[in-house]
Amino acid sequence: MLEKLRIDKLLSHAGYGTRSEIKKAVKAGRVFIDGVKVKDSGIIVQPNTQIIKFDEEQVQYRSTIYLMLNKPQGVISATEDGRERTVIDLLLPVDKLLSPFPVGRLDKDTTGLLLLTNDGQLAHELLSPKKHVNKTYEALVLGEVTEADKISFEQGVTFDDGYVTKPAQLTIFESSQTDEGQCTRIQLTITEGKFHQVKRMFLAVGKQVLTLKRLSMGPLQLDENLALGQYRELTDNEVDLLRQHRGIGK
Ligand code: URA
Repeated sequence: MLEKLRIDKLLSHAGYGTRSEIKKAVKAGRVFIDGVKVKDSGIIVQPNTQIIKFDEEQVQYRSTIYLMLNKPQGVISATEDGRERTVIDLLLPVDKLLSPFPVGRLDKDTTGLLLLTNDGQLAHELLSPKKHVNKTYEALVLGEVTEADKISFEQGVTFDDGYVTKPAQLTIFESSQTDEGQCTRIQLTITEGKFHQVKRMFLAVGKQVLTLKRLSMGPLQLDENLALGQYRELTDNEVDLLRQHRGIGK
């Protein structure tokens, strides 16, 4: 489908200034479409087929943005909040122009992979309970996590509100002594995303999650080169993988 939008909107999304700055730039004769000087900042353009120049520089336009964030603790997975810092506050102004939002929610104290995009359709499909998109978490759990817990998670555990979880895969790594007592490092892959899902699953077997980090969502793996709070754009290949994956609803 051919995209059409106002030239002032396009240029402000592309980082050339506010709408009123662009209006002035148009008046000053700095904007051209297919070699013709633009006179009206409300004119509709088709960025896929028309060449737009600002001060003789060809404008590279895109309408979607896909960012991978290594979420740190202490920020909430929302676009805005009156009191708390949000994941959007971590972005550079230029990366906010296309209004990305977090795909799903990680708790304030959870770290790791968070996808930010303005592609509502993709976000909707990745979050749809019907699609069963795998999410893998690494956690440090207080106490000893046992083979019995692994079997319970495979069969489904019951939350305090009576909800029975879908089968989940638990991998148990080493135990260690910490200031909090004996702890076990684990990985858990779930296919659903209930509020506090992982923490509540461990509570259902009488254990407490001390730290939680998301490693992957569907085919998208956290880039371990990203420090906490850092983010990068997805590669074309990662975007393709996500698009292909969303078709695999079960
Ligand atoms: N499960 C949780 O308990 N918290 C998260 O942030 C994500 C999954």
